[in-house]
Amino acid sequence: MKWTQDMKKLIAGNWKMNMNTESAKAFDQAMAKVDEKIVEWLICPPYPYIQHITNTKRGAQDCSAYYSGAFTGEVSASMLADIQCDYCIVGHSERRAEAHCETSDIVRQKAQLVIDNGMTAIVCVGETLEEREEGKAFDIVEGQLLKSIPNDTRPDNCVIAYEPVWAIGTGKAATSCDVSNMHNYIREILKSNVADGEEMRILYGGSVKPDNAAELLNIDNVDGALIGGASLKAEDFIAIGKAVES
Ligand code: 13P
Repeated sequence: MKWTQDMKKLIAGNWKMNMNTESAKAFDQAMAKVDEKIVEWLICPPYPYIQHITNTKRGAQDCSAYYSGAFTGEVSASMLADIQCDYCIVGHSERRAEAHCETSDIVRQKAQLVIDNGMTAIVCVGETLEEREEGKAFDIVEGQLLKSIPNDTRPDNCVIAYEPVWAIGTGKAATSCDVSNMHNYIREILKSNVADGEEMRILYGGSVKPDNAAELLNIDNVDGALIGGASLKAEDFIAIGKAVES
């Protein structure tokens, strides 16, 4: 991908552990006619359904931190590149959390492998409710960000997704003010630490729906959205992307 100044907003769906062959194919068909002039569309299905995505960019939700070998159950970044994935999410809070305990060091190793295999890493960061209530949200996000992005990160091989854990799947998106403050903060960190950091896309994720999309997507430094629940219905997902035009 060649980086251009007018990089479109990225509307990315994270299906998590949902959908099946039939619904994945039907979703892909519904995406056949979407307008790609203003929005870059991306779907990240569970591994078995990735290749059913033919009408938008395709991505994975995770990859192994290892190159190849005896890692039962893992899927490598090179395998994802082999099936023409454009993007791979790394460090989602559901993987940083207790069930998988991924540290920022592991997230950085994964992001590096994604980049080394010619794909774009979507590096997720975000604080828990407890951390926010303790006034630590900015420190937590800064720490995760600086430890999770590889040294050779650039706007054309990495996207940041700010997903406050308390807004994920709760139906309660962060307020415009909270989103704006955090995205501006992340922008400053990127400007100081990443080549061309002012151009790296920063997505917001957490209860993005058709009815709040226009407000969230029009905030400065919000360069797209990472969508969970509302990405399971093509109609809702497309409505979110269309909100970019409004
Ligand atoms: P929801 O849109 O369901 O809140 O999920 C957000 C998310 O985790 C996307 O990665």
